[in-house]
Formats: sequence, structure tokens, C-alpha cells
Amino acid sequence: MTDIHERTAFITGGANGIGLAIARCFARAGAKLALADLDAGALIRAKAELQDITQVETYMLDVRDRAAYASAADAAERALGPVTLLFNNAGVAGGDAVNRLTYELWDWYINVNLYGVINGLMAFLPKMLERGLGGHIVNTASGAGLVATGAGVLYTTSKFAVVGLSEELRINSEVKSAGIGVSVLCPNRVATDIISRSLDAASSAGARISEEQVKKQTMAGKALLQIGVSIDAVGEMVLKAVRENAPYIITDRQLEEMVKTRTQAILEAFPD
Ligand SMILES: NC(=O)c1ccc[n+]([C@@H]2O[C@H](COP(=O)([O-])OP(=O)(O)OC[C@H]3O[C@@H](n4cnc5c(N)ncnc54)[C@H](O)[C@@H]3O)[C@@H](O)[C@H]2O)c1
Repeated sequence: MTDIHERTAFITGGANGIGLAIARCFARAGAKLALADLDAGALIRAKAELQDITQVETYMLDVRDRAAYASAADAAERALGPVTLLFNNAGVAGGDAVNRLTYELWDWYINVNLYGVINGLMAFLPKMLERGLGGHIVNTASGAGLVATGAGVLYTTSKFAVVGLSEELRINSEVKSAGIGVSVLCPNRVATDIISRSLDAASSAGARISEEQVKKQTMAGKALLQIGVSIDAVGEMVLKAVRENAPYIITDRQLEEMVKTRTQAILEAFPD
């Protein structure tokens, strides 16, 4: 899709990190922005930063909340016109050791990382199909949605599901014939505060994480900020991928050998 100008983009997790970088790039390309997030302070900052470039509306939204999602979707379209660019990007990382998993942790993870994406599709896709204005959907998964990386079973389960959902949606004949492209964003390491934000969000959601994991993840979070790719580089990759309707957006080459090994093992498992 090359006609980004004047289209309306709805971006979850749009107040920080990768979502904010997507907002910046699409604002510069002329899109109007609806930013949805849990983080009220960051929404205010994002709006202040971007409102001189384009029209920006912000919505306090927990992507797990279906009723609130439907209201935010309606409000965004009343204010900015039909949403034709959808970024299902909000997500959390971390979790706990496999012997300390609880149903609370599973529910929280799957509800944010997978149902958050599903709720976005349910709120917008039927209208996008019906209106025939074309458009593009980017679902944020992870490199951990392409191969098991040691990111933990909660994260990997949720992100593999987002990759599968996106691939199926992309080949769907109704979606294709409505001129709606689909890409899945599979970042590896991007310099954001996702780890500390996720620890805070887990505790507000009542999903308990052990002290030992909190310490481990806090250190990993600091390292991520030092070694990760910049958010603005990722935002540019997303803009290019939408323009070219690329299936996958991969942010560095770190997982290349692991993906090859996985693919080879699958191919070798085919019977003679
Ligand atoms: N940073 C990385 O290295 C990395 C790697 C792989 C995948 N990802 C994925 O990229 C996406 C964005 O992550 P990021 O690194 O920019 O993180 P981030 O923490 O900087 O941004 C995520 C945003 O989502 C919001 N959010 C979290 N839960 C929410 C909820 N329930 N409802 C609404 N908003 C919510 C947060 O408030 C935050 O503003 C996530 O899906 C994440 O899993 C990130």
C-alpha cells in the first residue's frame, strides 16, 4: 500500500517503544493517529510530540477489555474517519520459570499478547472488509514467534499464535480481495523498557512473578536497552513493509541460524 497519506492508523501500545516509533513514521507519512495504551502519562507525551505533524487522538485502553476496545474503536473512527491501518502491537514480556507458572500468569499473558491482537481484529476487520477501502494490518509477534529462543513458554506460546494468525489472515481470500495487506512484525531485540513495564503491568494485573525472576528480568531489561536496535529504525522498517506488503518484518539477523535449524528439522521429519 503506497497511499498512507490521510489514512487513519490505530496503534495499540502506541504510547511507548515500538508503537510510538510506528506512530512517528506514519505521522511523517501523512497518516492520522489513534494511539491506544494503558500508560496515561506516555499517551500525553506522545500526543504532545506528534500533534504538530498530524491529527492525534489518544485512548486509555486495556486491549484485554473487549467492551472498552469497541468504544475506543468507535470513538477513533468518529474523530478521525475509518481506520484502514491497524497495528496490533501492545504486548508484554517476561513471565516466570516453568515450574512456577500459574493460571493467573497464563491468563494475563495470553489475554494481552494474543487476545489483544484478536480483540483488535474483531473491532476493526469486519468494518475494513465491508467498506472496501483497502488497508493494512500489522500484528506484532516476536522472533520468539518464529523459533523457540528461550524467551519462556508464556511468551513463545503467545507469539507463535500471533504469527500463525497473521499468516492465515494474509492468505485469506476475503482479506486479499478487499485489498487488505497483512504483515507480522517479529522483532528480536529492540531497545525499549518492555521488561520493566511488563513487571509493573503483571503486578497491577495480579499476576505474581517470583523475586528471583524479577531480579533476572530486571538485568535482562537493562541489557536490552543497551544492545537493542533503535525503535526508530524499527518504525522505518514497518513503514517500508506496509508500503511493500511484506509478509514478515524482521529487525536483525540474530535468529537466522536458529530459524534455519528449526526449518531443517521440520523438513527432515517429513516421511519418505
Ligand atoms: N522490545 C523488544 O525487544 C521486543 C522483541 C520482540 C517483540 N516485541 C514486541 O513488540 C511489542 C511492543 O513492545 P515494546 O518493546 O515496544 O514494549 P514497550 O513496553 O516499550 O511498549 C509496549 C506498550 O504496550 C502497552 N501495553 C502493555 N499492555 C497493554 C494492554 N494490556 N493494553 C494496552 N496497552 C498495553 C504498554 O503500556 C506500552 O506502552 C510487544 O508486542 C512486544 O512483545 C518487543
